[in-house]
Amino acid sequence: MATRLRWLGHSCLWIESDGIKLLVDPFLTGNPKAVVSAEEVDPDFICVSHGHGDHVGDTIAIAQRTGATVICNYEISQWLEGKNVKAHGMQHGGAFHFPFGRIKLTLAFHGSVLPDGANGGNPCGFHWFFKDGSTVYDAADTGLFGDMALIGEEGVDLALLPIGDNYTMGPEDALRAVKLIRPKMVVPIHFGTFGMIDQDAAAWGRGVAAQTSAIPHILQPGEWVTIRG
Ligand code: NI
Ligand code: MN
Repeated sequence: MATRLRWLGHSCLWIESDGIKLLVDPFLTGNPKAVVSAEEVDPDFICVSHGHGDHVGDTIAIAQRTGATVICNYEISQWLEGKNVKAHGMQHGGAFHFPFGRIKLTLAFHGSVLPDGANGGNPCGFHWFFKDGSTVYDAADTGLFGDMALIGEEGVDLALLPIGDNYTMGPEDALRAVKLIRPKMVVPIHFGTFGMIDQDAAAWGRGVAAQTSAIPHILQPGEWVTIRG
């Protein structure tokens, strides 16, 4: 029983839990920080947080090639099924049991229009409850909101928080998010991909270590963090 996560750059995550492979927000083609190509990943499931191009990314090509099921909001699931992609639609606050464990869709304050202009519903984050007991919360693209404390009450071993600012929380609000969620570990994402979202992640990590009980893991794209060994 083990769960580990690899940051693939931007908001793209690779999670392995008891042999099941999840790919999250697979923006690989055109991502200057991506450490793998869309052709070399073989997920069982793909989670898509919202409709923007830097999150939908290569979802269609990867899902069509591998047969992976895409987990996302209902509107995006309908859009994907129209493109011959297997999708499982959910909505905020709803949870479902999958072979790897349970996922609950969380609130996120952001936009979600799809790359072709179609309605992408409302953006979400993901709270995973893996079968080995590991819990992971990916806030995805969002501003700070007080109900992050409710997500924390359900248990978060590892939180993934955007720190890039402009489109999402910046470093100060992401630090406030850590205080609300109270995770055991935190990894910053959605920064450094483009100049507009450059941030000093190491300095942010020092703030987390000084002001909270969470352990910051400041990853380089391609690096892993073990949630349960
Ligand atoms: Ni976005
Ligand atoms: Mn984004």
